Amino acid sequence: MKIVLGSDHGGFRLKEEIKQYLIEKGMNVTDYGSFTPERVDYPVVAAKAAHAVADGTFDRGILVCGTGIGIGIAANKVRGIRAALCHDPYSAEFSRRHNDANILTMGERIIGSGLAKAVVNTFLQTDFDGSYHTARVNMIKEMEK
Ligand code: RB5
Repeated sequence: MKIVLGSDHGGFRLKEEIKQYLIEKGMNVTDYGSFTPERVDYPVVAAKAAHAVADGTFDRGILVCGTGIGIGIAANKVRGIRAALCHDPYSAEFSRRHNDANILTMGERIIGSGLAKAVVNTFLQTDFDGSYHTARVNMIKEMEK
């Protein structure tokens, strides 16, 4: 599984922690920045990462800002993206099982790194249930046309 990471300054430190965590687990991760704690506009990073998930360059994205909200709103503007804001493993599990979410967003100012890693694990390890959920996801796709 190919994973892209991204953050603004508000999510830089948590994004770095998640990157190290995933690298230590042997995961295939690419970092789209930011690469310093300097101020950066989250829509810029969100757009770059979201387009790369939507075009199939990556299987999943993990985006972090201060709250996880702005970067998720921005990512969801890209056709084909279903970005889910999750700060607990239950939400992460069902964002995958029912919504086939392809990007996870979190807020560094909201969640500690231990819980964030558990959320990331669940998000990456859980499959879409398919079945009648496919029709609902297809309705969302119809809205993008
Ligand atoms: C940056 O201060 C902050 O607004 C941003 O990281 C994010 O929380 C926006 O939703």
